[in-house]
Amino acid sequence: MDCVTEPKGVLVEARKEAGEKTKEISFRFSLDERKVIANQGDPLKWGARLAKFLRGNSVEEASVILNGMDAEKVATGLRLADYKFTKYLTSDERKGLTVHFVGQENCDAISRAAQVCEAVELARDLANEPAITLPPSTFASVVNDKMHGLPVEVQVMEEEELKKKGFGGILAVGKGSANPPALLVLKYNGGSGKPVVLVGKGVVFDAGGLNLKVGGGIRSMYMDKSGAADVVGAVYGAAKLRLKKNIVGIVPLVENIPSGTAIRPGDIIKMYSGKTVEVANTDAEGRLILADGISYGKTFDPEEIIDLATLTGAQVVALGTKVAAVMGNEEKLISSLIESGKRTQELLWQLPLFDLYDELVKGDRSDLKNISDTSEAGSIVGGAFLKPFAEGTPWAHIDLAGPAMLNSDWEWMTKGATGFAVRLLLDHLQAQRRHSSPF
Ligand code: BES
Ligand code: ZN
Ligand code: MN
Repeated sequence: MDCVTEPKGVLVEARKEAGEKTKEISFRFSLDERKVIANQGDPLKWGARLAKFLRGNSVEEASVILNGMDAEKVATGLRLADYKFTKYLTSDERKGLTVHFVGQENCDAISRAAQVCEAVELARDLANEPAITLPPSTFASVVNDKMHGLPVEVQVMEEEELKKKGFGGILAVGKGSANPPALLVLKYNGGSGKPVVLVGKGVVFDAGGLNLKVGGGIRSMYMDKSGAADVVGAVYGAAKLRLKKNIVGIVPLVENIPSGTAIRPGDIIKMYSGKTVEVANTDAEGRLILADGISYGKTFDPEEIIDLATLTGAQVVALGTKVAAVMGNEEKLISSLIESGKRTQELLWQLPLFDLYDELVKGDRSDLKNISDTSEAGSIVGGAFLKPFAEGTPWAHIDLAGPAMLNSDWEWMTKGATGFAVRLLLDHLQAQRRHSSPF
């Protein structure tokens, strides 16, 4: 994907058809053939449909004349729609697709889009990787390698250090696995002022622990590290774009597996914050590691904390697979994230965190318990559990269990891990500097 002055390969031209109600956009494909690809004038979708159109017509190289369409959005949609996780295909015959955008005026937009897409692709690759090849320590070292050459400081705390420092939530969830837990910390200092802390749920596989997952749902639980993957992607993208912000990415990594050493339902643990928690259900593991991540995040005296997690099946029931849930303790932060979501078309919908929900996670043998006694308001209960750990700091929790992974391609999202929220986060991180987002 680049910008050129002279077109090469197949020529494609964006055109708005006059007199049409929906303003359809069509292509001039080579000299005489013409196909309608998209309507509604949405450049992100248009780019995605263009990618499919070119692939469908076995085009390997094309040049696009945009005629005023938003170059960054078209390029983003095009590249993201053309993603495929091919690493384990031994006979992959997929050919590369090279697209040039005609016109010097597009160069900046195309290179920005390429960097953002690289960040999303990194998140998708990490989330798509099976658990067998990406235990916690490997996740951390892969990220360490990826950050090489970028102004990002990478720190990895291993189990011994986590024990010394009292990360009770992370240690408890990690106890059942032969692959020890780790805490990955990424620091990017691109500006002045308090950092934004991003915390991502990194459960490399969620079997449920002793509350073993039954039914088919367990198979896709290698993607339970999507929040972690998004945080890595966002820090990577911020560093690539040299955003003028300070960011701390906190990524607790564990494998939630049943075994003779696993945490049991009813066990009481002491968290990093000092609070005690009854692990009433070992399958509500994400909130345990996130709580430690959030508490640790507070030690950086942040401007705000945003956590991202595939936290609850209830989120998918409530909002489906295209929209994520957001909740938190500060309306300003929440609305700003919702706005970033609208600009990037990574949509968020707010759920309430009224104090009346607090009693659902109040423990009787401990300060807190990790599930409620009923299955009501499942996603809110997750947020209500995290809330006391964030107290005193503006905090938002994004539950993206639905949009993190799709069963089929949809516009610029592809089947499997989507990297949902990376573009939203990058938009949010630079929202103060811009009036409108390029993504
Ligand atoms: N990782 C799951 C949530 C999930 C479900 C993500 C479906 C993506 C798709 C999470 O750790 C979990 O198991 N949550 C439980 C919570 C319950 C025990 C309170 C759930 O949603 O069933
Ligand atoms: Zn989980
Ligand atoms: Mn679980």
